[in-house]
Amino acid sequence: MTPATLRFGLIGYGAWGSHHAAAIAQTPSAALTAIAARSEATRQAAAAAFPQAAIFADYHELLARDDLDVVDVVLPSHLHTEVGRAVLQSGKHLLLEKPMALSLQGCDELIAAATQQRRLLAIGHELRLSSLWAKVKQIIDAGGIGAPQYVLVELSRRPYRLGAEGWRFDSARVGNWILEEPIHFFDLARWYLASAGEPQSVYARANSRQPGHPELQDNFSAIVNFADGAYAVISQTLSAFEHHQTVKVSGATGALWASWSGAIDRTRHPTFWLKHFDGERLVELPLEKPTGEVFELEDEIAMVVDCIRHSRAPAASGDDGRWSVGLCLAAQQSVESGLPVSLLNYVRHGAVLPDTQEVEHAAGDD
Ligand SMILES: NC(=O)c1ccc[n+]([C@@H]2O[C@H](COP(=O)([O-])OP(=O)(O)OC[C@H]3O[C@@H](n4cnc5c(N)ncnc54)[C@H](OP(=O)(O)O)[C@@H]3O)[C@@H](O)[C@H]2O)c1
Repeated sequence: MTPATLRFGLIGYGAWGSHHAAAIAQTPSAALTAIAARSEATRQAAAAAFPQAAIFADYHELLARDDLDVVDVVLPSHLHTEVGRAVLQSGKHLLLEKPMALSLQGCDELIAAATQQRRLLAIGHELRLSSLWAKVKQIIDAGGIGAPQYVLVELSRRPYRLGAEGWRFDSARVGNWILEEPIHFFDLARWYLASAGEPQSVYARANSRQPGHPELQDNFSAIVNFADGAYAVISQTLSAFEHHQTVKVSGATGALWASWSGAIDRTRHPTFWLKHFDGERLVELPLEKPTGEVFELEDEIAMVVDCIRHSRAPAASGDDGRWSVGLCLAAQQSVESGLPVSLLNYVRHGAVLPDTQEVEHAAGDD
């Protein structure tokens, strides 16, 4: 049985972690009970914003508490495996920001730990919760465009933020830049093309406008191939302005076109729309809720509460997170070699995931 209010610990209170904190604090049936933050300045900022939360310098101390149900990890990406594994081994449920890990081995370790501990492992691919991007999925699944054959996910935006101590510009800590934003688009494309099975190969190109730094990929494009000729195009430029994302999906009988624009990715005042052509009629569909990553983050926290309460599968499971990491690693390999990369070696062997993750309810219950 689950307590009436789920008690969250948060590890990492940086640019995105502070948004997580606010989202947890405003979620009914969730309490922000503890925060671990590295520097004194960040701990002070967290304490000032959330005086009811216990603040720790060392995340191990947070994990040693027995009054937490779930821990949300929002740290630089190279720390995800180590800290995520520690969370699961402490017996807490885990919400882990993307990328799930910087390697497939890291993903496998996290999946194994969640399975062994029978704890929820939810990955922060929050676009799946969007009123806009999820509506595209609903229309595809309802047969609104016939079998999907082509997906384009395209973003043009301003450059990435540096991150604390410049981790986002350091390959050892970020992995590669495909693991930063394009990872969301690989996740969407694989989700939209689920009826075509798992992706089979990827070919990618990238370039940089920063001399001597080809790893800082300002422009990136990939083609992902699926069965029966279905394919997805993922394309991103960081050499642009504001934040503008487009999704186009064409199926055997119709097509969808979704668009989102904001001054920045975290705006609460975006413009967005969705057009559906069913082969005869073109309509612009009403969208019941605003969309954007700050809204989806709130829905993600509510989703985690719901998953733990009702033993439901998360919007993006460990296996989904692993596929997204695998697609990014394969794309990076393709950028470096100039050749398409088969994804056969990226399929997880020897472990069959149930459709719904089996999760034990938290201790101390109603
Ligand atoms: N799903 C999404 O849409 C989305 C959006 C943005 C970011 N993310 C992901 O979220 C994660 C965090 O990104 P961010 O933009 O919030 O980064 P950030 O602003 O750099 O914040 C990182 C936080 O981690 C702390 N930290 C850094 N190194 C640490 C270490 N060795 N041990 C303990 N704490 C450490 C920093 O502490 P100090 O403040 O004390 O330096 C900082 O508070 C990344 O994995 C990123 O990919 C996801």
